[in-house]
Amino acid sequence: MEKLQHLKEEALQAIESCETLSQLQEKRVLYLGKKGPIQDVMKMMKDLPPEQRPSFGASVNEIKSAIAALIEEKKARLEEIEMNQRLEKEKIDITLEGYQPTIGNVHPLTLVQQELEDLFIGLGYTVAEGPEVELDFYNFERANIPQGHPARDMQDTFYINKEVLLRTHTTAIQTRQLEKHAPNPIKVICPGKVYRRDDDDATHSHQFTQMEGLVVAKDIKLSDLKGTLEFMANKMFGEGRKIRFRPSYFQFTEPSVEVDVSCHICNGKGCPVCKGTGWIEVLGAGMVHPNVLEMAGYDSTQMSGFAFGVGVERVAMLKYGIDDIRHFYTNDVRFLKMFKRFD
Ligand code: DAH
Repeated sequence: MEKLQHLKEEALQAIESCETLSQLQEKRVLYLGKKGPIQDVMKMMKDLPPEQRPSFGASVNEIKSAIAALIEEKKARLEEIEMNQRLEKEKIDITLEGYQPTIGNVHPLTLVQQELEDLFIGLGYTVAEGPEVELDFYNFERANIPQGHPARDMQDTFYINKEVLLRTHTTAIQTRQLEKHAPNPIKVICPGKVYRRDDDDATHSHQFTQMEGLVVAKDIKLSDLKGTLEFMANKMFGEGRKIRFRPSYFQFTEPSVEVDVSCHICNGKGCPVCKGTGWIEVLGAGMVHPNVLEMAGYDSTQMSGFAFGVGVERVAMLKYGIDDIRHFYTNDVRFLKMFKRFD
């Protein structure tokens, strides 16, 4: 019994002095496992007189449960200590700089298109779109360019079959809008991609972007067109821009004009960008041809309209000083990074 008592004290002390959970586990195996000092003591039971055996057994059990209880308690304490140590070590430093995600930029064509849309929406226009795979009918016939007309050769066309093509200009959206709204007034802009069978070089691309403007109502005059385009030029190229109309020819307008804006680089004095003239050609425009109005269902004696078609790449190139149209399509990130980030 004395030995037993001694063993108990030794075990409790050994458990108490454990500093880690793994040390504690070793002690558990030692004192409560199949081989160890307690098991050795149990073996002595058979040498005892029978009447002493029950009380001896009870003492052993009492010691075993005391040891087990202390192990459990010690385990809880050690677990808490280890948890606190881990929390201390793994503390998140919220002042550390995070990773900067890579954010794209707005493509310059998107920027310019949005800017144009915004300024026209501000003038009360709505935005209309149309199919890029278009009928010859809307692209040419309704624009007063009948089959076999030489004006068709001005726009080398990707034909899909005899009636279907890739639209060569956003005037195709204009003719659709006229048909849709006749005989009522219209005030729309029509942005979109257009396609021509051109060889790509610094100023030509087989696919580019246009924006058509169209206003139809009673008493629309050429001066309305001029005022509108002057407003646009001032917004896009800075205050103080002037507008100049030169006579031109388009099948779908009469009269037709080529529109120049006073050079925003030299302010009209003459520089390499405007080739010394002080003027830069930016778009074609005119009064909607009576034939175009009539074909769509308007009475051209009652209603009149103006239209214009602006090249979005051209505006972007002038605005940002870009010298090659191919920059817009080759996606060199060094080029794209120069423009506005997404907010
Ligand atoms: N459709 C013409 C082109 O692509 C541009 C144009 C000129 C559009 C005059 C118009 C316009 O609406 O009135 O070359």
